[in-house]
Amino acid sequence: MGGAPTDLKLIDERGLRLDGRRPDEMRPLKIEAGVLNKADGSAFVEWGMNKVMAAVYGPRECHPRHLQNTERALVQCHYNMASFSVEDRKRPGPDRRSHEISKILSEALTHVVFTEYFPRTSIDVYIEVLQANAGTRCAGLTAASVALADAGVPMRDLVASVAAGKVANTIVLDLGKEEDNFGQADIPVGYVPRTDEVVLLQMDGDLTREEFDKGLHMAVGACKKVYEVQRDALKRRYSARAEGQEEGA
Ligand code: CDP
Repeated sequence: MGGAPTDLKLIDERGLRLDGRRPDEMRPLKIEAGVLNKADGSAFVEWGMNKVMAAVYGPRECHPRHLQNTERALVQCHYNMASFSVEDRKRPGPDRRSHEISKILSEALTHVVFTEYFPRTSIDVYIEVLQANAGTRCAGLTAASVALADAGVPMRDLVASVAAGKVANTIVLDLGKEEDNFGQADIPVGYVPRTDEVVLLQMDGDLTREEFDKGLHMAVGACKKVYEVQRDALKRRYSARAEGQEEGA
């Protein structure tokens, strides 16, 4: 969020954005499930210029033991941005931002996982951002849900995620890097279609109540499209598995 260079027009005379999108248009999204051999579940998401890998291990015994919950599993996300993922090399290792994102993604996923089935365990979700162009927490949450399903972790539903926001006084969907940097607001949303619940909601910037409602509505509508892409990735994964089993039989 901040002042744009005076010659940067985030919305042009035709009402289109820097990359030619309409305000309510998402960047192209591709998801592939089951891309890593050693993880229990995995997913790779390419979303515009974002590239994000998610890997799931568990449920497995929770270490250190003092973190164990005798009644449920702990869903622990570890969000990391590779140093080569952004223009100015990012200093490797955890920082405040990655701690915050790991925490909110863990909370969002805890809402959908049947944690009560696996007391004392940890379900570890590693989210590695390989290329970043704004919206990586949403891409990470979207990838993590598919990776959890790929690992066979019992869940109420997938979480689908996308951000809405405000740029050049217009409510837009799925902000790109310049829009995120020089726009007026950003609202990442995580949504569970089956239960119609919002499990992630943040807001950076200023919006009126009406603008917020419009942005949230736009993001929830788009999450339903993200959800279809997630389901399609899992269907492809399971039909490939089933074909493999038939061949092996
Ligand atoms: O990625 P997301 O929109 O969820 O989080 P953000 O904190 O709003 O960051 C927006 C974007 O800023 C990231 O996606 C990166 O492209 C960029 N960024 C960066 O260039 N260097 C950082 N250390 C952190 C973020």
